Amino acid sequence: MESGNKVIDEALQGTALVIEQDGVQSSKKLYLESYGCQMNFSDSEVVASILAQDGYQTTRNIEEADVILLNTCSIRDNAEQRVRNRLTEFKIKKDRNPELVVGILGCMAERLKKNLLDEEKLVDLVAGPDAYRDLPNLIDEVGTGQKAVNVLLSRDETYADIAPVRLDQGGISAFVTIMRGCDNMCSFCVVPFTRGRERSRDPKTIVAECQDLFDKGYREVTLLGQNVDSYRWNLSAKGEVKNPAEPTTNFAQLMEMVALVSPLLRIRFSTSHPKDMTNDVLEMMAKYENICPYIHLPVQSGNTDVLYRMNRGYSREWYLERIESIRRIVPGCAISTDIITGFCGETEEEHQETLSLMDIVQYDFAYMFKYSERPKTLAERRFDDDVPEEVKGRRLNEIIDKQLKHSLASNQRMIGTVQKVLIEGPSKRSEEHLCGRTGTNVMVVFPKGNLVKGTYIDVKIIDCTSATLIGELIS
Ligand code: 5AD
Ligand code: SF4
Repeated sequence: MESGNKVIDEALQGTALVIEQDGVQSSKKLYLESYGCQMNFSDSEVVASILAQDGYQTTRNIEEADVILLNTCSIRDNAEQRVRNRLTEFKIKKDRNPELVVGILGCMAERLKKNLLDEEKLVDLVAGPDAYRDLPNLIDEVGTGQKAVNVLLSRDETYADIAPVRLDQGGISAFVTIMRGCDNMCSFCVVPFTRGRERSRDPKTIVAECQDLFDKGYREVTLLGQNVDSYRWNLSAKGEVKNPAEPTTNFAQLMEMVALVSPLLRIRFSTSHPKDMTNDVLEMMAKYENICPYIHLPVQSGNTDVLYRMNRGYSREWYLERIESIRRIVPGCAISTDIITGFCGETEEEHQETLSLMDIVQYDFAYMFKYSERPKTLAERRFDDDVPEEVKGRRLNEIIDKQLKHSLASNQRMIGTVQKVLIEGPSKRSEEHLCGRTGTNVMVVFPKGNLVKGTYIDVKIIDCTSATLIGELIS
């Protein structure tokens, strides 16, 4: 999946989220930690739901856990290192309490399979992203003294019928997975190996989940997929209808179905792919006010030769044409991106083209990474990881410096404007303030007045940093 959570490089892998669900009384306690992209956080909600049915209650207190599960990320090497360190800590706990079950889920489980059990003896249980329905059995197997593994990838598992347990109860914003897997084979990316083939989820179940979220007080959904533009239901990859008796749905149509749940429900989506993003998606964004004017469109590099080595399926010119179309069809749309620096064979001139593309596009926000070679990927098999570490570091700094300037300029342009903000809750820094996002996905902090979360408010922007807008209420 393209992109993850917060800012710059590996800081984004640092957001381990511990989750807890209130409610059902039970003697069995599950401690669940998630790493990596939004898809993993969303999957953890599916896992909590499957195990709740089996009598598990989630806990934030690791000391009372019967089962510890880590939902992991493999996208860069340091994401994996972090999880290994965490597993070593759990190993010490397990030595003290042999009954404790420690399991690993997600991309790292899929990538390393039995190795974590056999060679490193760090865990009791390994479950890949398509094996979560099997978790109750796997935990039972561990109880009978066996090591439990299920890393089978599926062609059709979408967990469509599972109502995810929302782990931030009383929340305003939720992720809804619309498709799983990826068929793109970008040469740097491990995701096609860890998450398997692309498959779309039945639109009826997606709309029902969004309606249910709205009824429970949620006011924002983010439709998630590794490449949302290739969402298709009842359509083959070539666009042929599979079952003539059933309607077909593409991504633009799905967005419309969700937008019609309520004008008070904001729709976001992630991630778009430049080679597949069509104008009908942009036109649908322009048509509905509640589809947020914000697109995350990972470029990865500004140079056509590098893009070719990355197997991205587009050129610099194609990408810039897509940007022009966004600006034309959805005026004022915010655009963010992912950039990898120091990919195999990247020359200084090629790096300069990434910087010049950034100047042309003026991204509102970017996630920026040093290339990290991943086992089994096309790049690992075909190319040398030959850009020295210090060169990668220096190029990354140049990219980050530029982006910080662009982010600040983008926020400064908003000073003096009035923005419609969805109130998310208290500001982290001040009890006298609330925070919420603009449609363009920028966080705004403003005085709390008598306002309540989950409602919309017009806020006048009076100041900013490169990350946050400061607003005042207008009467
Ligand atoms: N090295 C560095 N960054 C990577 N990404 C994916 N694979 C790698 C890798 N091997 C980045 C891409 C992608 C984002 C989720 O992570 O920019 O869009
Ligand atoms: Fe995203 Fe490409 Fe990886 Fe698919 S292969 S998840 S499109 S970076």
